[in-house]
Amino acid sequence: MRDTGYGIPANALPTLFDKFTRVRHDGAPKGLGLGLAFCRLAVEAHGGQIGVDSVLDEGSSFWFTLPIEAPPTSQLKL
Ligand SMILES: Nc1ncnc2c1ncn2[C@@H]1O[C@H](COP(=O)(O)OP(=O)(O)OP(=O)(O)O)[C@@H](O)[C@H]1O
Ligand SMILES: [Mg+2]
Repeated sequence: MRDTGYGIPANALPTLFDKFTRVRHDGAPKGLGLGLAFCRLAVEAHGGQIGVDSVLDEGSSFWFTLPIEAPPTSQLKL
């Protein structure tokens, strides 16, 4: 998914998918910082990878992969 929004500063990228990570853009951050952490949990539970390519003030491109073969047995308890 690609956007032409704020972009994400390079120093925030390594922890962007961690719980409670929020990046300040204009004004105070509004969320809890859980959305992307949840996305990573879901993708990794299915044996995939998630990431983002982003340039500050130009936009962001979020991507994920999923394996074609059967996923590993998940430890995720729903
Ligand atoms: N498309 C985007 N462009 C620029 N920054 C983004 C984008 N998506 C997320 N971010 C930044 O990454 C941070 C973490 O996102 P995440 O979705 O995990 O949390 P949140 O949106 O702050 O809160 P929540 O999803 O829990 O309501 C956000 O605070 C935001 O600053
Ligand atoms: Mg969010």
